[in-house]
Amino acid sequence: MRVSVIGCGYLGAVHAAAMASIGHDVVGVDVDAAKIEALSRGDAPFYEPGLQQILTDGVAAGNLRFTTDMAAVRGSAVHFVGVGTPQQREGSAADLTYVNAAFAQLLEHVSPGDIVAGKSTVPVGTAAGLAERVHGAGAVLVWNPEFLREGWAVQDTVDPDRLVVGVPAGSEGERAAQVLREVYYPSVDKGTPFIVTDYATAELVKVSANAFLATKISFINAMAEIAEATGADVTTLAEALGHDDRIGRRFLGAGIGFGGGCLPKDIRAFAARAEELGKSQSVAFLREVDAINLRRRARAIELVVEAFDGEVYGKRIAVLGAAFKPHSDDVRDSPALDVAVQLKGLGAEVVVTDPQAIPNARRLHPQLTYEASRDETLRGADAVVLVTEWDEYRRQLSPEHAASLTAGRIVVDGRNCLDPAAWKAAGWTYRGMGRS
Ligand code: UDX
Repeated sequence: MRVSVIGCGYLGAVHAAAMASIGHDVVGVDVDAAKIEALSRGDAPFYEPGLQQILTDGVAAGNLRFTTDMAAVRGSAVHFVGVGTPQQREGSAADLTYVNAAFAQLLEHVSPGDIVAGKSTVPVGTAAGLAERVHGAGAVLVWNPEFLREGWAVQDTVDPDRLVVGVPAGSEGERAAQVLREVYYPSVDKGTPFIVTDYATAELVKVSANAFLATKISFINAMAEIAEATGADVTTLAEALGHDDRIGRRFLGAGIGFGGGCLPKDIRAFAARAEELGKSQSVAFLREVDAINLRRRARAIELVVEAFDGEVYGKRIAVLGAAFKPHSDDVRDSPALDVAVQLKGLGAEVVVTDPQAIPNARRLHPQLTYEASRDETLRGADAVVLVTEWDEYRRQLSPEHAASLTAGRIVVDGRNCLDPAAWKAAGWTYRGMGRS
């Protein structure tokens, strides 16, 4: 099938390449000429395991191309729109400028009967408004939210947990859902749940999924605060809670909290939207989820300061990690970088390392010092602060090796991913988040 993908950022680039990998004839469109040029050469514009391969394969096979020319969407049966919905500069609502611009341009080129599939994460109620514009151009709008996780984006797109499609009522909606089934045929054939619903529910599935995940993380981080006050161990707590399969162990990792391009902005936009709907009370807890999350970053700083008896000025601190999570070079709203910046603000001599994210981190925070080599980062450090749980730090760094490089023996484990007993046995003062 011929499909187009409008917006070639994280979501769109992966979606375009994944659609080509399952045999569709795909054109990706973006206004950013540099990005389009890179993608057209088969170069992934960001680090995402597996993306480079399917991109190169698609471009080489000729069923994946990229352009800045919106007219290239002509002839596609389905047009996916996956442009960004960042947080507004002033306030916490979602900024729909890109969505509106993409739809305006796209609708000049759609043909009667085409399907426009919105994938961007939007405030509930957005699709209903867009549907009228799409209908006016003779096409049909479906809302097909995306649940991909960075680091697993290709797998999540090719083999998702579920597919959700919001459609208009009646036969037009039924036909559109059927076309989407054909687009996602490998998943549909394999029995992946395919949920057909109305627009509002489809939009809500996405924002509530992210709200739930953020809440789960902040729940365990709130328990970490209680654990700190009582001497309990949040890691053992999470393990014990997780054995109850109604709760489950995943997303109960206490630490410096969530960041990235989705969870923080999505829960804020959701709260803002609820307020517009006169339902701010319904999701008032999300403000608390956000507040707990930000408190944990502050707590990590406090642990470092306490370990130095209140004075970090001039201390050399090795910060392990910059990405908001491992297997990603994304530093958007990264708790890791936030901790590094705040430590520097207190006068510490901060050196940051990361296996993938240094170029992005340098662009965002040029005032920080970066070092590509983990061991050079550790050399001469008075304290080590682990903030992104890359294998290079959690598995492949022994406390003995670290001790052979550093000047001090203080380690703050911002992701609770080290073995406290092993580090203590090697002479380190270990501080975790909600465990000691
Ligand atoms: C998230 C959702 O998981 C995904 O479904 C949605 O489509 C986009 O937003 P992503 O931003 O890629 O995906 O990251 P995710 O793996 O969810 O992690 C988000 C943040 O939470 C990271 O900073 C991570 O370190 C943190 N986290 C995750 C925890 O602090 N503890 C956990 O137990 C899990």
